Amino acid sequence: MTSEYTIRECTTIEDFAGCINLQRVVWQFEDLDVTPVRGFVVARNSGGFTYGAFDAHDQMVGFAHALPAFTPEQKPYYYSQMMAVLSHLRNTGIGARLKLAQRDHALRTGIPLITWTFDPLQSRNAYLNIIKLGGVVRTYKINFYGHASSSTLHRGLDTDRLFVEWWVNSQHVADAVAGKRRTDAPVASVEVPRDIEAIKHRNMQEAQNWQAQIRAGFQKYLSEGLYCAGFETDADGGHSRYLFYKDEHQEEKESARG
Ligand SMILES: CC(C)(COP(=O)(O)OP(=O)(O)OC[C@H]1O[C@@H](n2cnc3c(N)ncnc32)[C@H](O)[C@@H]1OP(=O)(O)O)[C@@H](O)C(=O)NCCC(=O)NCCS
Repeated sequence: MTSEYTIRECTTIEDFAGCINLQRVVWQFEDLDVTPVRGFVVARNSGGFTYGAFDAHDQMVGFAHALPAFTPEQKPYYYSQMMAVLSHLRNTGIGARLKLAQRDHALRTGIPLITWTFDPLQSRNAYLNIIKLGGVVRTYKINFYGHASSSTLHRGLDTDRLFVEWWVNSQHVADAVAGKRRTDAPVASVEVPRDIEAIKHRNMQEAQNWQAQIRAGFQKYLSEGLYCAGFETDADGGHSRYLFYKDEHQEEKESARG
């Protein structure tokens, strides 16, 4: 039951201290990689915002943080930099609720786009971002953060990242958050394992092979002008795959109309 958790904007130093704590617990960051309270205060005072999920004792169990940003064409958008939920509460919908609070904020402030990055090997994030939220991917960055991260989630692999575009006012996003699935056939797909952490644990070479295969697939299809706007899992829960479609730029058109 996620309704027992309250989603609200973080406004106080105590709220931001909760975000510090979660960064340590979820990513197991060393101090150098933790965004400090000052970073959250500065972001809030420059048009950014942070939403937290809180339990009945007002203890933070998840948060999502966003910064104000500009496209190369100087159009404003929000860059969502971090989202985390305590591990024992994952898969209960708290992450989706935090993202929907970000979307409401963007709709209220008239900003059409939120972007963020995620590790293409993490199939839970892929499902959440692409299916539950309706994010689309047009950009793949190789080793985006280099190898400097102290997070246990990043260890042993290049930090490749997919860039999610979330056109918050588009029909595509409205359909996704209402649970409607895209029905047209994809033109290409790239397979991803269901549980990369288990693979990393038993055989790092196997994890590296997956990364190389997914990287090559994304590079090929994105360079052919396709974009990733779907994700599916085999009925037996074994493997999942990213689905690619011809890029009609529907989101931006619909967003501009809205
Ligand atoms: C990413 C994260 C914030 C998501 O939060 P969450 O509260 O678990 O998200 P939700 O419960 O809303 O959605 C997760 C969905 O993925 C599904 N899922 C779980 N494992 C999956 C897998 N291996 N493959 C595909 N889907 C999976 C869940 O069933 C759920 O979908 P459902 O609601 O249809 O059942 C959380 O997993 C987390 O803190 N991860 C570590 C930090 C991180 O990676 N942050 C994001 C990048 S900064």
